[in-house]
Amino acid sequence: MYNIRKVQTDTWWLGASDRRLALFENAYPTPGGMAYNNYLILDDKTCLMDGIDDAVSRQFMDNLVKALDGRSLDYMVVQHMEPDHCAIIPELLNRYPELRIVGSQKAVQMIKQFYHIDVDAVTVKEKDTLELGHHTLTFYTAPMVHWPEVIVTYDDVTGALFSADAFGAFGALSGNIFADEVDWEHDHKDETRRYYANIVGKYGIQVNALLKKLSDIDIKCILPLHGHLFRNDISEIIGLYKKWAGWVPEKQSVAIFYGSVYGNTANASDILAMDLAEHGIKDVKVYDVSKTDTSTLLEKAFEYSHLVFASSTYNAEIFDNMHTFLTDMKNHNLSGRTVGFMENGSWASQSGKKMTDLIGSMKNMTILEPMVTITSSVDESSREKIDELAKALAESLE
Ligand code: FEO
Repeated sequence: MYNIRKVQTDTWWLGASDRRLALFENAYPTPGGMAYNNYLILDDKTCLMDGIDDAVSRQFMDNLVKALDGRSLDYMVVQHMEPDHCAIIPELLNRYPELRIVGSQKAVQMIKQFYHIDVDAVTVKEKDTLELGHHTLTFYTAPMVHWPEVIVTYDDVTGALFSADAFGAFGALSGNIFADEVDWEHDHKDETRRYYANIVGKYGIQVNALLKKLSDIDIKCILPLHGHLFRNDISEIIGLYKKWAGWVPEKQSVAIFYGSVYGNTANASDILAMDLAEHGIKDVKVYDVSKTDTSTLLEKAFEYSHLVFASSTYNAEIFDNMHTFLTDMKNHNLSGRTVGFMENGSWASQSGKKMTDLIGSMKNMTILEPMVTITSSVDESSREKIDELAKALAESLE
């Protein structure tokens, strides 16, 4: 049965949520499920803004048929050719033989790659427009936000920015699809940052270029492909995106990440956290890299200004989960953080040097001294070094 909502003049949300999904992209845990948004503009012409994932395609088709109310579908704008938004294309082309696909040249090429079909497409470039009757859509290229073929779209009547993956989030939607209808700051901001960091975070330069391009446009609402929709005050989410795109931390505090085999490196991390609290540092966080998913660790690395990595030596290497996390940070081009290290080894500590080399190969990372070396478990001597590292972190935060 259909489940749709009018979100702007002539504009309907047709999305659906998948609460059974365990891993988005078979990679990122989705304990809160996943929402797939798309929109239909009903003007002289009918225009669908993106499609949907296979898992919720039946709900989508019910929604589309209801919203069209007997009309045919004239256009489908394919802003992003990733299958979580495009799985429905072959079925739509069968149902609506007159349907014209609208997208970038690369998107059209990808339709052929994924579905082995030639489509009658309108290919668009920077600032090309599409007249629907009263509404004129203007397209802006947004390469690598999140794939190379991406465009975003501005509707001159409603001031809506259809933003593709930009401004998206992990998490299902439950009726209150607008951010101002929920406690977004408390309940959804972290999942928006986790989505940004993991899905788009590598491409901050391209995100900034897009934000700059859009800065002259009077955007009244943002309609993304995942997560909540933004209207009224959109400056907060745009401000956050500017920070994230520049890898600028939101929080001036310390996140400590440890990889610990028998609890001794964990103990060192907790001692450091307590030291920091005694120096007056608030909001210190400690994460076990074996218990917290890497996607969340990355999200915290985007949020915090100061990061401490504490790792056991394992097979003469950095502890595996820590190595995965640090590599992920590097792959997402994280930069501009202040970093401290603690290493542990019972006979030949290697993790400190290897972590220093890895972080040292990233941009604008400030490495604090001393590096703490623990031999099996914290003793008075290594505890003193932890105190020194806490002092260095506190001074750096002044
Ligand atoms: Fe939601 Fe990049 O797909």
